Amino acid sequence: MAHVMIVVGSVRPGRIGLPIAEWVRSRVEGAGHDVDFVDLKELALPFLDEPHHPIKRDYQHAHTRAWSARVEATDALIFVTPEYNHSYSPALKNAIDYLYTEWQGRPVGFVSYGGMSGGSRGVTALEPVLSTVGLVKIPTEVNLPGASKQVGDGGFAADDRQTSSLDALVAQLVAYGEALRPVQARR
Ligand SMILES: Cc1cc2nc3c(=O)[nH]c(=O)nc-3n(C[C@H](O)[C@H](O)[C@H](O)COP(=O)(O)O)c2cc1C
Repeated sequence: MAHVMIVVGSVRPGRIGLPIAEWVRSRVEGAGHDVDFVDLKELALPFLDEPHHPIKRDYQHAHTRAWSARVEATDALIFVTPEYNHSYSPALKNAIDYLYTEWQGRPVGFVSYGGMSGGSRGVTALEPVLSTVGLVKIPTEVNLPGASKQVGDGGFAADDRQTSSLDALVAQLVAYGEALRPVQARR
């Protein structure tokens, strides 16, 4: 059993990121893992307001210390994120920028969504950010093109192919988490 953090990367009113992330949560819990569900709208981090580079971990604000402790308690992460203007969600980038050492050696999988590209350009735009802070992106990605058509009153109605892709992502994420333990121990 792993402790998996699911991050809802969009904060807009009416966002479809929330029902998609709830679907992700149901599959991760169904596979027997613990979930820490992080809705960035609820987390409500201001634009980065720490005076020191996060590598120093000299945090001045309670919201940063709480965010740091939450990430420290996870084995692996799933970012559920849209693509905005061919790039990443600014709320997600801001949440990453708050920390540094905490990310190192932690695996991350992406469930992205958007128009035809299924949010994949947003993921690609984030890759240099991930590698800079030491997050390890796993190869399996779930990209959901035209996902808004699958969102209704009952939440996100995934098809079988999307569900089996997500299950494969979760299995790979947990395997990477185990393999990366020696790297995490060097933080
Ligand atoms: C400011 C903005 C920019 C967008 N840019 C893109 C884009 O570049 N590519 C794309 O496929 N969809 C784009 N979209 C469509 C979003 O992927 C779609 O609205 C999605 O529902 C946004 O996620 P959210 O509802 O969780 O915020 C954009 C939407 C917004 C609001």
